[in-house]
Amino acid sequence: MQQKAPQPIDWSTEGTAARREQFYAASQRKFVPFREPMVFRRGSMQYLWDAEGRKYTDLLGMNVCISVGHSHPKVVAAAMEQAQELTHCTTMFHHPIPAHFAEELAVTMPKGDKGDVEWVVHFTNSGSEAVDLAMAMARTYTGNVDLLALRSGYHGPTSGAQSITGIAGFRHPGMPGGVAFVPEPNQYRGIFGAGTGPYLDEIERTIQSATLGKVAGMFVESVQGYGGIVEMPPGYMTGAAERARAAGGLYIADEVQSGFGRTGDHMWGFEADGVIPDIVVMAKGIGNGFPLGAVVAQKHVAAPMAEKFMFHTYGANPTCCAAGRAVLSVMKEDRLQDNAKTVGAALLERLKDLQRKHRAIGDVRGRGLMLAIEMVKDHKTKEPDRETTAAVFEKCRDAGLVLSKSGPHQSVLRMVPPLCLSAADVEVVADGLDQAFSALI
Ligand SMILES: Cc1ncc(COP(=O)(O)O)c(C=O)c1O
Repeated sequence: MQQKAPQPIDWSTEGTAARREQFYAASQRKFVPFREPMVFRRGSMQYLWDAEGRKYTDLLGMNVCISVGHSHPKVVAAAMEQAQELTHCTTMFHHPIPAHFAEELAVTMPKGDKGDVEWVVHFTNSGSEAVDLAMAMARTYTGNVDLLALRSGYHGPTSGAQSITGIAGFRHPGMPGGVAFVPEPNQYRGIFGAGTGPYLDEIERTIQSATLGKVAGMFVESVQGYGGIVEMPPGYMTGAAERARAAGGLYIADEVQSGFGRTGDHMWGFEADGVIPDIVVMAKGIGNGFPLGAVVAQKHVAAPMAEKFMFHTYGANPTCCAAGRAVLSVMKEDRLQDNAKTVGAALLERLKDLQRKHRAIGDVRGRGLMLAIEMVKDHKTKEPDRETTAAVFEKCRDAGLVLSKSGPHQSVLRMVPPLCLSAADVEVVADGLDQAFSALI
């Protein structure tokens, strides 16, 4: 075996880009958002610094993974302490850290009118593993196979998660079938326009026409993330759950992006509609950058899974779970859900000001710190404006802002910053965006 002697890390942008180009598989190279490579060297709370020492306000939170702040000292300390003691402990053995964390997550779930809804947790390494497990759980519990999912929904890269992802650019050959898609209730450009009823009717029609008439369940992101920050309108989640259950299925909330207080009003996005899911899938913000996911399910729903072996090697890893526990306590101590609500509302107002000023902006939407600006070529036809979005995105980099191009047409600027974004940052962000749009004229 040939082995290269360890070299000092080459922090140069050119060196990093060249190594990545040569040694990363094509499948991992495509996702380069900016025209020129960007190397981040350091992060602290809502800020990032690149290899040249330039500071950025982070509106992407490394794809919503950074919930309480980059390298938050309490999260880092908790993980380090556990890693030094015992870095990994397989789930076949007992360990108190994941056991405590499971209890702490379970108590964040709704108990129902009678207070008798019991929740249990299965830890995974990632969101898509959690999605796959939720699919298996729903099919095992109900005995049905067909699943419903929303167009423009994103649920992850594993084969199962891809099969319920409703954006062609994320789907690859060979995914399992047994999934029927319904239109996303996008209040700005959905096929039935604004409202809830027609979208719910379509669920029923789809069950009757594209499934066996019985379903295992329906997956809904409480706020679609990569789909371009599409909120479920009032009554949709409740109505969807009713329809899925009437066809023998479960209601599965994907909270991978919208969970952990991000929407400001609630800990979980589904709470906005008062629905109680059968299964909740979570990841990303749960670990503030440590790889961790979880399926939180009603106890009776998870029970039939005891019949077979389901083992995620790093699920319930105590180092990641120690980080997760610290995330929950920092969220509480720093009142980050409240912060998401007030700072998010202030940012939304500033985005609306920008909409009045810049014609390219067709829609501004979202809640808490889950916000978006959508660009259109024409306000009547709402033709997506991918080019302007890309140009503004590049200019934002010059203005010291990192955000994301999202939506099925890449015509949405998505903002999902660490939940510690401040009122002062809102001014910086609004000015930066204003500069970016103004520079296009
Ligand atoms: C809503 C949603 N669900 C599931 C996933 C998959 O999570 P992971 O990338 O951790 O596998 C993602 C990832 O972006 C997501 O946004």
